[in-house]
Amino acid sequence: MPDETTAQVTVAATAGPLDATTADGVRALAARTAAADGVAPLSEQPLLWLTDPEASAVHVRATDASGQLVGYAQADVGAATSASAELVVDPVHRRTGIGSRLLERLRSETAVVPGRTLRVWAHGDLPSARAFAGHAGMVVVRELWRMSLDLAVPREARPLPAGVTARPFVPGQDEEAWRRVNSRAFAHHPEQGRMTASDLRAREAEPWFDPDGFLLAERDGALLGSVWTKVHAADEDGGGHAVPVGEIYVVGVDPDAQGLGLGGALTALGLDHLAARGLRTAILYTGAENTVAIRTYTRLGFTKESADVMFGSGTQGSPAGVTMST
Ligand SMILES: CC(C)(COP(=O)(O)OP(=O)(O)OC[C@H]1O[C@@H](n2cnc3c(N)ncnc32)[C@H](O)[C@@H]1OP(=O)(O)O)[C@@H](O)C(=O)NCCC(=O)NCCS
Repeated sequence: MPDETTAQVTVAATAGPLDATTADGVRALAARTAAADGVAPLSEQPLLWLTDPEASAVHVRATDASGQLVGYAQADVGAATSASAELVVDPVHRRTGIGSRLLERLRSETAVVPGRTLRVWAHGDLPSARAFAGHAGMVVVRELWRMSLDLAVPREARPLPAGVTARPFVPGQDEEAWRRVNSRAFAHHPEQGRMTASDLRAREAEPWFDPDGFLLAERDGALLGSVWTKVHAADEDGGGHAVPVGEIYVVGVDPDAQGLGLGGALTALGLDHLAARGLRTAILYTGAENTVAIRTYTRLGFTKESADVMFGSGTQGSPAGVTMST
């Protein structure tokens, strides 16, 4: 598709991975925006997909006359029915129509597949994003809560069910079994249930990856569920924390093993690991509609800290009953 050019800003879309310099430009834009807004505009998946040749992503870039990146959007076009996107405009270039042009381009890229809808995440549920989405005729279709917990407060013991043991994930050995259980546990989840082998490898290659904080629960050698933790350096978690925080990154329990208390026990094991690493705060993300998970987390001591919202033109999109975090 040809570029749309005005005197000031050019908007261009590309399907392939970005080169290293362009990707660095997007990361710098995200960092500038996070410093100004107090919340990171792009989440982990779009950042990992900047340079991933296997990503099902479309990148839309807005550059000014000097070639400086002033806005960026990325859409996940891997699903046939709906594309989810994240969108950011440099704080010093807002209210000049750049966000609207990025959105317009996202819409035309998404519409390449007839009937596919576009949904846009707004992290932190900022008033500017609400106003922008309203102006564009979009409504809230999904809400993701960020919950947090003080690791220094004593917690109730949550033993593993009888006959179940936990051990660290072994890279190079456990990937396929973990992906199988993860996709069963998150069969109805729009993103987590679709984690590919490449997505998993990319996370294993990240500096934060620590198999000791990724625990698998087994009975008679069969994988029943897991808890995966992630430690964020100070100010890297998008929540403005001045000290490192630990995330309960993914908790998944196979549908056949649900109802045994395994989700709560695994989460507690993850919290014990984070506390043993000297961390003071734990966080996690969960769908606001996932009442089973929220009840489990609340009983462990988590409280709601903030919310991310997804805008779209349809009705509430995420089913209840999803297993746990993310
Ligand atoms: C939301 C965001 C993308 C808007 O980008 P932008 O380039 O400023 O948007 P536009 O200039 O195209 O704004 C279009 C309309 O949205 C509304 N709007 C946008 N920002 C607004 C604000 N801060 N207050 C009130 N209305 C606002 C206005 O109606 C505006 O039209 P107007 O300027 O003619 O009144 C930008 O603020 C941003 O990057 N925020 C952080 C990331 C984020 O939340 N992304 C998710 C977006 S759903």
